[in-house]
Order: sequence, then C-alpha cells, then structure tokens
Amino acid sequence: MMGPHMFEVVACSHTSQTLQLYKSEVVLIVGTDSITLDCNTQHCCHWSITDIRSYEHSTQHISIAVGRRAHTGEGVFTFYTNEGCLIDQKLEQLKKRIKEQRKKMITPTSSSPLSGPRLSVMADVYTNSDKHVVLYNNVKLPILGLGTSHDGGYSHDAVVFALQQCGYRHIDTAKRYGCETYIADAVKASGVPREDIFLATKCWPADYGGAKTREAFNGSCQRLGTDYLDMYMLHWPEVPSGAAGDKRQVLRDTWRALEVLLDEERVRAIGVSNFLERHLDPLLEDCCVTPHLNQCEFHPFNNPKQLRTYCKDRSIQFEGYSPLAKGRVLRQPQVLEVAEQLNKTPSQVLLRWSLQHKIPALPKSTKLNHIMENSKGYCPLGNGQILREPKIREIAETHGKSPAQVLIRWNLQQGVVCIPKSTKEHRVKENAQVEGTN
Ligand SMILES: NC(=O)c1ccc[n+]([C@@H]2O[C@H](COP(=O)([O-])OP(=O)(O)OC[C@H]3O[C@@H](n4cnc5c(N)ncnc54)[C@H](OP(=O)(O)O)[C@@H]3O)[C@@H](O)[C@H]2O)c1
Repeated sequence: MMGPHMFEVVACSHTSQTLQLYKSEVVLIVGTDSITLDCNTQHCCHWSITDIRSYEHSTQHISIAVGRRAHTGEGVFTFYTNEGCLIDQKLEQLKKRIKEQRKKMITPTSSSPLSGPRLSVMADVYTNSDKHVVLYNNVKLPILGLGTSHDGGYSHDAVVFALQQCGYRHIDTAKRYGCETYIADAVKASGVPREDIFLATKCWPADYGGAKTREAFNGSCQRLGTDYLDMYMLHWPEVPSGAAGDKRQVLRDTWRALEVLLDEERVRAIGVSNFLERHLDPLLEDCCVTPHLNQCEFHPFNNPKQLRTYCKDRSIQFEGYSPLAKGRVLRQPQVLEVAEQLNKTPSQVLLRWSLQHKIPALPKSTKLNHIMENSKGYCPLGNGQILREPKIREIAETHGKSPAQVLIRWNLQQGVVCIPKSTKEHRVKENAQVEGTN
C-alpha cells in the first residue's frame, strides 16, 4: 500500500457541471485496488478504479475521465499541479492497473467467470442476447433466474433439476432465506461448474455497517461453498433502529464495504433490493460505485414505471422478484385469457411479460414440472403475436392488405426466402397475394 501524494489544484472542470476548485488541496491515494481523489471541499469526490474510463497525465496536469453517477454524467476532471511531475512510477502503476482491470471486465479469459465450459452443458444463456442482460460493468446476468426462499419451502431436487435439466444458470438467494448451505449442496450435486452459475445473495440489515457487512459476505460465501459471488445486494434500504450512529452513515459504510469487495474482485457486481427513488438518491450522493442492479417486486400487477425509469436513467439494471405474484394471479381472468389465446400456461405468460420488458425474472418453485414450465418462459408467446402489433396493422390498413401480407412482403423485399405456413385455404391464398405493399 502506497502513501498519499499531495498536490495543489489550480482548476478543475466537469462536463456537466462546473466545479471551480481554485487552490484546493487534493490528495491522490494510489492504493493496490482503488484511488481516492478527495477534493477537500464540499464537492468531495471518491472515485473507484472501476469508474475510470481513461487516464492521461503530463508534467503539468493529470486528467481522469470517469463514468460514474448517471445524475452527474460522465466527466473529465483535469487537475493542474504546481508541483510539476507527479511521481511517475506511481502513476504508471495506476495506469497499468486500470488497463488490467478494464481488460478483465471486457475480455473473458480462460480462468474468468465469463468463460468456461457452459456451452457444453446447456446453455446459450451467456451467448444469446435474449437470455441475458449486461450490467454497466459488462457482467452478463442471465435474465431468467431461479428464486429460492424459505417462503413455501426449499427443495433440493428442484434446484438440482433446474440446473441439470432446464438450463437455469442464475440462482437468487439471501442469508435471510436460510438456504445458502442447501444451495451449495445442490450446485455440487448438479455437477454444473461453479463458474457457469450466476450466484446472487443479499445482506440483511442486521449485518449493515462496514466490518459487519464484510463478515456477512464471508459467511454467505462460506455457506454457499464459494470464494466469490456474482452479485451481492443490500436486501432492504432500512437500517435497524438499534444500529449505532447516523443511519445514512451506516448505509454509506455498508455500501463502501461492498465497493471494497468489488475492488478486491470477491464479487463481480453489487446491487440493492427494494430501494425506491428516495433511498437511491442519498446512496448515489454517497457512493463511489453506482449500484449495478436494484431488485424489486415486478409483475403485471405491480409495475413501478417511475422507479424503472429512474434506474434506467442511471444505468442501474432493474430486476424483478415475485414475477408470478407469488402464484396469486395465475387464475386471474386476464392472465387466463391471454394464456388461452396464445396456447401458453399462465406462468409462462407472466414470465414472458417480464422478459419482454428485458427485466430479469426470478420465479421460485419447489415442483419439477413448474420449474421446467417456467424455464420455457423464453418461448415466443405465439407465432401470430407480431400480426397484432399496432405498427404492422397500421401499414396493412394504409395499403389495404392484411398484417400477414405486410410481413411476407417485407421479407421478400429484403431478399429473404419466406415460407409462411397455414392450414387454412383462404390464408394460403392471402399469403400468396403480396404485391403492392411497398
Ligand atoms: N429481494 C426481496 O426482498 C425478495 C422478496 C421476495 C422474493 N424474492 C426473490 O424472488 C423469488 C421468487 O419470488 P416469490 O417466491 O415471492 O414469488 P413467485 O416466484 O412469483 O411465486 C412463487 C409461487 O408460485 C408458484 N409457482 C411457481 N411456478 C409455478 C407454475 N409454473 N405454476 C403454478 N404455480 C407456480 C410456487 O409454488 P410451487 O412451489 O408449488 O410451484 C410459489 O407458490 C424468491 O425466491 C426470491 O429469490 C426477493
């Protein structure tokens, strides 16, 4: 660990807001894992190495481009020194470290959790872009995860079956659910390599606070039989009333512990759960690393649009829990109607609704048939679905054609051979009459 290096700032600018920090003192700490730029003013900035996009320095100044909080946007900070050259060696080391870190984030290596023999087992989960989302630090998160919790019981066989037979590669759990040890057993029994599985767990508020949080993380890893996690989340925004110190400070320290774990590469991404805008605002003020994800309840009967937009604007991936509304809406008439129309099951309709929004869903089941059924939530809702798209209907109406004719004509215009299938004579005729829909 290297010591701090002091230099004086003459001016500092930011693309989206002007910070004029004349003659302020800046401390540049070059640590093994992260740097801190402390402007020593009310605009105190703590940057993590993972936020740094590019870096340049000369004898006169050091310029660092960071992409961090979405609400301040990306910025280029230029610090002019009156000391001449900063200690070159330290800066070279820092540059090298940044380069390595970025390379690691983007390019899978043979030992990286992004590579591995997953294709042999199933799954195009990490290669098919419909089946994963990419977090803003380039980590791929399988869009369909397996929920596990104490609520409704835990089934070892169900988890093994999900991994072995249905291609699930994302397991969501929490210390609070009390099944981390059982999940370790199931992963082992499945024979699916650890690095193929996106393992996510959560820190319960009783464990909030810097050192306690780190201990909780280590406890979860131990129970899950792993030395790293793919995602570690704060389970709830509330800090227990008995917690020592100011609640915002407790949350700040807790989040900082997650950031350090990220810097140490003990976890590939860090997130929150059940955080609303009013919880995220102060966290974003205080954090170095914007949460990669926010896990909240999401299904057609609970769709927090504003929160989703808030997250999207800040590059925070929104993830949905209880996608089947805990099984309570599976007999709801609207759901049954759509399921019947599309020849799908109610749970597939609900899951497909989440996935069509590109929102990861975490259905939970203890039954093998349900697990299999849910894994097919990816399948298209019905081949005729696109024919009901308003835009297609509009074009069809303008040209006095049917939606099917518009689609066939579109394919032919692209030079694509098109083989529409129908068992109805009038449709076969209709599909052959596609001229004039330019
Ligand atoms: N962050 C948080 O605070 C939080 C809160 C809640 C949940 N979660 C996460 O989200 C996961 C799922 O949430 P959840 O368990 O509340 O709700 P859910 O997945 O929406 O619903 C689970 C219920 O649906 C039933 N079910 C599942 N598949 C079915 C199917 N194909 N047909 C009929 N019924 C089916 C299950 O019963 P069977 O076992 O009989 O199939 C169970 O009763 C949890 O396991 C957890 O990982 C997170």
